[in-house]
Order: sequence, then structure tokens, then C-alpha cells
Amino acid sequence: MLLTNIGQLLTLRSSSPNSGPRRGVELKELGIIRDGAVLCIGGKIVSVGPTKDALRDPWIRKSRKQLTEIDCACKVVIPGFVDSHTHPVFVSPRLVDFEKRIEGASYDEIAAAGGGIRSSLEGVRKATKSVLKTKVLAVLQDMAAHGTTTVEAKSGYGLTLESELKSLEAIREAARAWPGTLVPTLLGAHVVPKEFEGCSQKYVEIVCKEMIPRAARANLAQFVDVFCDRGAFAPEETEQIFAAAREHGLSVRAHMGQLSETPLAPFLRFSPASFDHMDHVNSEDVNQLAKLDTVATLVPGANYFLGLKSYPDARRFIEAGVPVALATDYNPGTSPTISMPMGMSLACTQMKMAPAEAIAAATINGAWALRLADHKGSIEPGKDADLAVFEVEDYREIAYWYGANHCQMTVLNGVIAAHG
Ligand code: NIG
Ligand code: FE
Repeated sequence: MLLTNIGQLLTLRSSSPNSGPRRGVELKELGIIRDGAVLCIGGKIVSVGPTKDALRDPWIRKSRKQLTEIDCACKVVIPGFVDSHTHPVFVSPRLVDFEKRIEGASYDEIAAAGGGIRSSLEGVRKATKSVLKTKVLAVLQDMAAHGTTTVEAKSGYGLTLESELKSLEAIREAARAWPGTLVPTLLGAHVVPKEFEGCSQKYVEIVCKEMIPRAARANLAQFVDVFCDRGAFAPEETEQIFAAAREHGLSVRAHMGQLSETPLAPFLRFSPASFDHMDHVNSEDVNQLAKLDTVATLVPGANYFLGLKSYPDARRFIEAGVPVALATDYNPGTSPTISMPMGMSLACTQMKMAPAEAIAAATINGAWALRLADHKGSIEPGKDADLAVFEVEDYREIAYWYGANHCQMTVLNGVIAAHG
């Protein structure tokens, strides 16, 4: 496949010798090629450069008839978004919670009254794997239509051994039917289910001794996630779960600092791939994270949907040198959006990230947050052919026209999905 005539080709190629996630000023380096072209063969990117060079290339001239040629008509092409934090395995939206919150109830109050995460459990426990797979696949297709080509997908709305494995199997089956890339995460430690109220340790044992070993053995998860916060899991429980994950060869990530501040030092020995949300974090931890490759994944969609006035302090992280990623946090309780451009728009208007920083956070740093930066997140020879074509002339428009979808075409591992 040969894409030509790209008005702005955002390669996100690295210009610094630092091989880790983007930090500080590096977030603004988009590696833009004007009037660019990309050649992809067998699901991989083969060459990237100006259109005139591509059309002069002897091999391309010889093979042109066999290539699917796409004239991008001066539009913008970016690496497919890497949505590194989603919860797609649920059955129903939470409309009562939505209304209660509008009337003034808080996230904690809704959860305490039986709403929140616990109210999604029954639907998932009763659902067949095939129903869950169909739901996940529909969401993935919608995500691709908005420019996303790699998705991290968590379980976490079953919270029994059986229903967590069923959720992960549904993710695996959806992944097989989708041309993009799916990264499965076990979030058995999302909240303590009602049956274990007052004896959370018993539930943690199930997560550590049953869910993690079974998911690892069946190769159903790459990561283990924990919602570490008030009303969910305590720091000591989180450490216990991280230790079990490590014992079974799984990497870790965590929901951290969404509702309250938790000191991060005890978790760093597990080299978490990312800490997500990060609304509340102390300065010592910010300085520590600046030295590590653990990514701070910001999910402003959750703050928006919860009607919060404050957002994670992206500028503080960026200025301190902490690598930041952006993700949707797609879920029925706090962030029912599949749109990375919407997340970017919120990042720009509410967290004062520059559009360029938002692009890097939604692509290459998302790839780092999933430990996939060798294959994903930039348009460079050897990487996977994951591209998104936007019907705009300037990349800044992607975050500017909020609430509308300007993604025209997505290429997922070399497979074209056209949308408009
Ligand atoms: O990322 N904080 C924990 N998990 C989700 C919310 C899940 C839910 O409310 O269903 C989040 O915001
Ligand atoms: Fe989440």
C-alpha cells in the first residue's frame, strides 16, 4: 500500500538519542513531513519520506501497479492512536448514576448507595461470552473509526474467577476478529465485591491465588491492574497483588490518585508500566517519576464526565520531565467515550497541553505505556502499519473540532478501514 500526497505526515520519529518515552520538550517533536508518502508492505511500514522521493524510487516505479495507491489529497496522517486505558467489557450504560450525579451526588456517594462499579457486575456475570465479545468488538470498530489502532482492554466488571476469565476470553475473541492490536489486562482488583464486604483480604487472595495464576497460565492477560484508592484497594493490598502478578510473569499498572493521594514509592520496585489518572500526587513522587519510564496516563474524559472542576496537572508533569500519555478510560461509570480526539481536546482546553503534546501523548507515549513502543506509536520503517488519515489540513484541527469525527480512514496492521 502506498499513501501519497499527505499534506502533513506526523511521523513522531525520535530525534533524540533518548530511547524512552517522550518527556518535556520532546513531546512537541512531531517529525512532520510535508507532502509526504508512506509505503507499507505485509502490515509493516517500509519507507517514509516526501512524495516526490517515493515516486522516483525505482522499486516503487516498478511495483506501482501491484500497490494499492491512496492519494491523501493534502490531508493529515498520524500514527494510529494508542488508547492505553479502556474498560470495554460491560453490558449496560449507567444512566441512573448519570442522573444522580447531575442532581449533585458524588462518585463516592453513588458507589456507597450501590451504584458505581458494583452495579455493572450482575450484567457481566449473567452475560454469555459471545454477548460480551460482540459488545467489545463493536466498541473496537467504533474506536478504529475515530483513529485508534491499538487498545488496552481491561476486565473488571465480573469480579468472580469465572466472570473475569470470561471477560478476558471475550477480549481475546474480539481481538481475533479485529485487525487492530488489543492488549488484555486483568483488573480483578477493580473494587471489593459485595460478597466480600468487610473481608477484602479474602477477595485479594482470590485475585492473587486464582485469577492471576489462571489468567497467566491461559495467556489471557499481559498486565495486572489495581484500582488503588479509597473505597477500592489499599496500598498494601496493591503491593500484594503486584507481587502475585510478578510471580506469574505479568507486568503491572494501576489506577492511582484518582480520588485521593497515595504515596507511590512502595510500588516502584515492581516497575509499573503506568500509573493512571494521577489527579492527586505529591511532589516527591513527581520528581521520582521523572527519572523512570513509568508513564503517567492522564484520562481527562473521566474528569469531564464526572463534572469535576479540576483536572490532572499535566503541565506539572511535563515540566518536571514525567512522561505523560492520554487515554479515553472508556467505561460506563466515569468516561463513556471512545474518542481519542475528544480526550486530546480536553487535554488542550482543560489541562493546557499543546496540540502537539496531546498528539505525542496519544500515540508514542501510549505505546510506551503498553510497552509496545518498538512496534507502535510512530510512523517509521519497521514499525506496524497503523495509521489514521484525518480530513483536516493542520494536525491542530484534530483537537480543535471537538465533538465531531474527522477521521476518514484508518490502517490497522496494514488493513484499511475507511469511514467517511
Ligand atoms: O477508571 N476508577 C476506577 N475505574 C474506572 C471507573 C469504573 C466505573 O466507574 O465503572 C475509572 O474511572
Ligand atoms: Fe479506568
